[in-house]
Amino acid sequence: MLRFYTAGESHGQALLAFLSGLPAGLPVDVAAIDHELHRRQLGYGRGGRQKIEKDHAEIFAGVRHGQTIGAPIAVRIENRDWANWEKILPVEASADPLTTSKQLVAPRPGHADLAGSQKFNFHDARYVLERASARETASRVAAGAFAKQLLKQFDVEIASHTVQVGHVRLERQTKWEEILVACADLESPLRCVDSQTQQKMMAEVDAALKAGDTVGGVFEIVAHGLPVGLGSHAQWDEKLDGRLAQAVMSVQAVKAVEIGSGILASGSYGSEVQDEISYDKTAKRFTRASNRAGGLEGGITNGEDLVIRGFLKPISTLRKPLGTADMVTKEPVQAAYERSDWCVVPAGGVAGEAMVALVLADAFLQKFGGDSLAEMRRNFESYAQQIDEF
Ligand SMILES: Cc1cc2nc3c(=O)[nH]c(=O)nc-3n(C[C@H](O)[C@H](O)[C@H](O)COP(=O)(O)O)c2cc1C
Repeated sequence: MLRFYTAGESHGQALLAFLSGLPAGLPVDVAAIDHELHRRQLGYGRGGRQKIEKDHAEIFAGVRHGQTIGAPIAVRIENRDWANWEKILPVEASADPLTTSKQLVAPRPGHADLAGSQKFNFHDARYVLERASARETASRVAAGAFAKQLLKQFDVEIASHTVQVGHVRLERQTKWEEILVACADLESPLRCVDSQTQQKMMAEVDAALKAGDTVGGVFEIVAHGLPVGLGSHAQWDEKLDGRLAQAVMSVQAVKAVEIGSGILASGSYGSEVQDEISYDKTAKRFTRASNRAGGLEGGITNGEDLVIRGFLKPISTLRKPLGTADMVTKEPVQAAYERSDWCVVPAGGVAGEAMVALVLADAFLQKFGGDSLAEMRRNFESYAQQIDEF
């Protein structure tokens, strides 16, 4: 239903996002897209690149007079760094010695450098790392901002916060309202809801920098206001938990995904982890006293908040490089160092939000789809009545 893909290299002219399947008549707030792009650039532990870029979404297609027209959307985000790379990575063939000045033959362990070079048959990992780079998440965030704006029409909101950096973990329960506040706080260094825990997390980031090392962590994404019934138990690829896991796992450096209390549940008894159901006769709705399932049962949303976590490995580019083998000489060397972040947990959360928004918007379109927002709203309201009367 909702299709999107991205193009662009980290140091190319621009990042591009293409989005197809949104209904016509959706008001588009460009400032809100830029706001998301800005949030992706923030975070304690980022490298110098963020000082160069000031991401802005230029919409080339699919939006006219401030709203979608049912045509594919094309967005461009300029790379300001291109000015420094134009002669190094020209589109045309060139004999300029600068074109070989940034060749990378010492592949970094943990990156796509070696496997990508072998696969595409380059003895220079430059082309591979240019596309593998998480600069690509800017395109995803732009596409995800459209998805968020569609979901907002149905009172669904998505927010993320940081629950772990290195060895420091947020140990207490959180509420949707405080996550929303932390998520919107552009001054918050790591977007953790608890200031004391955040101080400890910052110390962890500082320690990694001092040691020439990097640090990973965990972001949590919550989607609030979802209706019951998105996704389906009927086929493996319709299960929303599986689709969300793939989407979040696809964010660069995410190595594990958890829904609800999935990890804790695997080491507990059944009686300890299920969410008992009751019926609130005043509100006329089914309720659950807890939400360990993270808002999904049988691959279907159950009306509780959707809670999904992305586990990020520590960034692979190290100022104190690891050992590797030169791709040309085959001799042992130290891995290349390329200007790099050393902690990206909050930015990973913003990319994760975008991916969750895209999957949820797609699920919305599958369930309530229409060619216009008005048609979709009618379908949504008719279904809401069915749930009310159930
Ligand atoms: C927001 C964000 C920023 C990142 N920045 C860097 C970086 O500066 N340096 C780096 O080595 N890896 C960075 N990464 C991770 C790499 O892109 C990623 O580890 C690499 O492409 C290999 O992919 P994989 O870890 O998913 O297997 C970043 C990831 C995210 C989500």
